[in-house]
Amino acid sequence: MSGLLSLCDVTVRFGGLVAVNKVTIDVHEGTIHSLIGPNGAGKTTIINTVTGVYSPTEGSVFFGGLPLAGVNPDRICRRGLTRTFQNTELFGEMSVADNIRVGLHGVEEYGLPAASVRSWSCRAAERRIDGRVEELLEAVKLSDQRHIEARALPLAKMRKLELARALASKPKMLLLDEPAAGLRASEIDDMNLMLRMLRDQLRISILLVDHVMPVVMGVSDKITVMNFGQKIAEGTPKEVQANPEVIAAYLGA
Ligand SMILES: Nc1ncnc2c1ncn2[C@@H]1O[C@H](COP(=O)(O)OP(=O)(O)O)[C@@H](O)[C@H]1O
Ligand SMILES: [Mg+2]
Repeated sequence: MSGLLSLCDVTVRFGGLVAVNKVTIDVHEGTIHSLIGPNGAGKTTIINTVTGVYSPTEGSVFFGGLPLAGVNPDRICRRGLTRTFQNTELFGEMSVADNIRVGLHGVEEYGLPAASVRSWSCRAAERRIDGRVEELLEAVKLSDQRHIEARALPLAKMRKLELARALASKPKMLLLDEPAAGLRASEIDDMNLMLRMLRDQLRISILLVDHVMPVVMGVSDKITVMNFGQKIAEGTPKEVQANPEVIAAYLGA
């Protein structure tokens, strides 16, 4: 157990089905660690287990050295572990800016006295939130689209908006489920830059699930390969790409 996030011998069963089988993974601080493998390998189940949606049938998960057993998803997020979803879950009819504002709810507190009277401190809190929304729009390069309804954005920008909303909670670690799925080549380069910026400038550690190899191989410090719920390989992009078992199970000849 040496990672910022550590899974120790985690097994997750759904009835008779073993979705995750004795998996141990350490995601180290300041790194991008990818989880790859064929459909049904157990990747999303791992993300759901880490975020408290499921409990491991066996084994344990630690974040920042503290066990996550019995901690609800909301409190896991407040400890600094935030996710995005495989299918974007934006509020389509709300503006781009308001989608981020929602992410700030509960992060920037108005405080009780401020909420009961519309005092100067309440207005100060609103200005602070506006400032933070602007910062986050800037970080993902969506400032020009702030008034547009989220559903009118092209897919690549929806993905960026999801990132911005996740960043609103000031995470130490982001769990990203297929952020590059369906993107075009130029958009993929852009996503690579964005992920590197999160790691190198905002110092956010990332657990990344994706099938898009130019992203996974381009940004990962380490890759864990899964197949049928088991970890079959782990290493640098170079090591994993040269591993015969990985090629047979997933990457192809
Ligand atoms: N809530 C669930 N109930 C029953 N089976 C599930 C559930 N979630 C996932 N599974 C099963 O667990 C296995 C792993 O799924 P998943 O983690 O979604 O794989 P991946 O994300 O790698 O494609 C699959 O066989 C899937 O059908
Ligand atoms: Mg999945």
